[in-house]
Amino acid sequence: MSREVEDHRIHNESHNTPFADIVERHLSRRQILQGGLGVAAVSMMGGFGLGGSLRAWAQDKSPLALGFESVRGSRTDAIVVPAGYRAQVLIPWGTPLNGNATEWQKSLAMTPQQQANSVGMHHDGMHAFPLDSKTGSRRFLLALNNEYIDQDALWAPQGGPTRPDGVRPADEVRTEINAHGVTIVEIQRQDDGGWAHVVDSPYNRRITTATPIHLSGPVAGSDYVRTRYSADGTRTRGTNNNCANGYTPWGTYLTCEENWPEVFVNTGERFSDDARLGLPTDRGRYGWETAAGDGEQDDEFARFDITPGSGEATEDYRNEARTFGYVVEIDPYTQATAMKRTALGRFRHEGCWPGPVRAGEPLTFYTGHDSRNEYIYKFVSAAKWDPADEPEPGSETDRLTIGSKYLDEGTLYAARFDEDGRGEWLALTPEALTPSGRTLAAALGLEADDAAGIIIHTCDAADLMGATPMDRPEWSSVDPVSGEVYFTLTNNSKRTADGTEPTFTNDGEALEASGVGYATAPTNAANPRASNESGHIIRWREQPDNRFAWEIFLFGSDADAQTNRSGLTQSNQFASPDGLWYDERGDGQGILWFQTDNSDNAVAEYTNDQLLAVVPGALAIGDGSGSVLDARNQNQLKRFAVGPNGCEVTGIFATPDRTALFINIQHPGNWPADGDALSQDATKIADGKVRPRAATVAIWKEDGGQVGV
Ligand code: FEO
Ligand code: CA
Ligand code: CA
Repeated sequence: MSREVEDHRIHNESHNTPFADIVERHLSRRQILQGGLGVAAVSMMGGFGLGGSLRAWAQDKSPLALGFESVRGSRTDAIVVPAGYRAQVLIPWGTPLNGNATEWQKSLAMTPQQQANSVGMHHDGMHAFPLDSKTGSRRFLLALNNEYIDQDALWAPQGGPTRPDGVRPADEVRTEINAHGVTIVEIQRQDDGGWAHVVDSPYNRRITTATPIHLSGPVAGSDYVRTRYSADGTRTRGTNNNCANGYTPWGTYLTCEENWPEVFVNTGERFSDDARLGLPTDRGRYGWETAAGDGEQDDEFARFDITPGSGEATEDYRNEARTFGYVVEIDPYTQATAMKRTALGRFRHEGCWPGPVRAGEPLTFYTGHDSRNEYIYKFVSAAKWDPADEPEPGSETDRLTIGSKYLDEGTLYAARFDEDGRGEWLALTPEALTPSGRTLAAALGLEADDAAGIIIHTCDAADLMGATPMDRPEWSSVDPVSGEVYFTLTNNSKRTADGTEPTFTNDGEALEASGVGYATAPTNAANPRASNESGHIIRWREQPDNRFAWEIFLFGSDADAQTNRSGLTQSNQFASPDGLWYDERGDGQGILWFQTDNSDNAVAEYTNDQLLAVVPGALAIGDGSGSVLDARNQNQLKRFAVGPNGCEVTGIFATPDRTALFINIQHPGNWPADGDALSQDATKIADGKVRPRAATVAIWKEDGGQVGV
């Protein structure tokens, strides 16, 4: 079904939408960001000096070039990669991690025990942790999110899911719970250039929606999280809907809880945060709560029904959902109990990415709330970075204690993007003053020192401080040299051109703001498209005094669309950017990789979801069409890979030597081709119908060189 690849790069010069005015206003500032006014002028802007001068220097050195031909769009049951590359399926769902799981075969009936000892389902964010040395590129631990489940594939041999008399069988629910969460698995390079996992590695581990986890930070031990399971509010069970990820300088993995509200149900009186986050009021997504009763252990299913009882909070699970919605820190090198780092906010976290790491300065982590008209946040640690806190890979170190030093105390901010290309980080602290001059604690109806309450009501707090509602913030990545922060805004069907007012008020009584948010939001400079179907990528640089300067880097679009602002062609058209990674390659240069999670539009008719690459340092000054990448330089943006039918492409990292790149294929429709095999050629098309399995895909050059160049 693929159309011919044509060159549409000189088309759609129209500026006939209201937002053309806004992009013209951005032009002069973008020239500054690109070095067009020279390093001296750049330095005068404050905070731009380092990146501006490095960029000018990098361009003098001749920019890094993408060394592959853009691949055509594809709509097959196979991965497509450029000529000269190999792509291998690695650790698909169901891969046994140890001897407690039997060998995978396509007719395998999954059980709680089997799933708890096998790779989880629906691979998403991931990161690699070296075992030999920081730069070792042949042996590492892969920490992998298993975001959600495909019940048809999970229950294919038996038929299911089942719900006799409206009740889910306990072992079905346990199996589904064990298919969620995180997988830690040792990976090694083979002599033929391919990759294999290490069965029975002592590091192999699953953390599921049933695994005990500690709470830490402001919410831990507060009244908000006391439950029948943890009367002192310091513990919970499981992490759920782990979407994207992050990592720390001290060698731990951050996994982020995104669409967790749907596994709970509240049929009674709602908390305002339940309403704000969209917890169901009729049944949970999979009906796990229906398995409660005889045969369950320690309320393992009852906890998903958070309907308040008539007694104390410690007699039921009204607070159980308040133990979810966090960034969770895991030490991949040990079996230590994971920690929910509540200081980083509570919402539908997509991921959590570190900013530049500099000795003697606080650490910064960027995190977004992936829902329509929600916010971008950052956390700044109270502790300043001490390089002595970076252990040797694999060494015996209590990494989670280091994590407590940097991730439990600090300030959470939400971003306000102003029309003039500047922005401000708004502190979400009890004493912060809202635009109407009240303290945030008072505006939320909280006690004056209730830091835990601010976190529980993070979204309401950001509303009240005047944060900018965004087009579904997904992944972020930071150029560690320039400090530029890239963020994908995937799409937004609830953005309107005509200025719908927010449905809450900033100056009313305390609780008027709670539990509401924006149903729709008017376009703004940072989110300029009404009914944004294709998404965009924004970037910014930090400035002093909690300010930043931002610009739109790239707009997604169908090549033929009227609003093709970045001048895309068939060879790089895309929509719904999601995964993102700035791959630093030295000399202040790097490749920005990004992945798509698209459906139901003209781009989807042309190609399955994809992985694209662009070299930001190679981009000349744009043509004023409103993004850094535009009709004059968009040939710097190339399609590197296309996934199989039905999938989303997500998760990305490369070996330190850049000779292998890893991505994930989530929810494929009919892939990988060999239903019985674990490792296999990812580019092969199945002969008939297979039991689909999400999997990691390792991609490397046949000549052993660096990927992408
Ligand atoms: Fe799980 Fe926002 O993607
Ligand atoms: Ca995502
Ligand atoms: Ca997505």
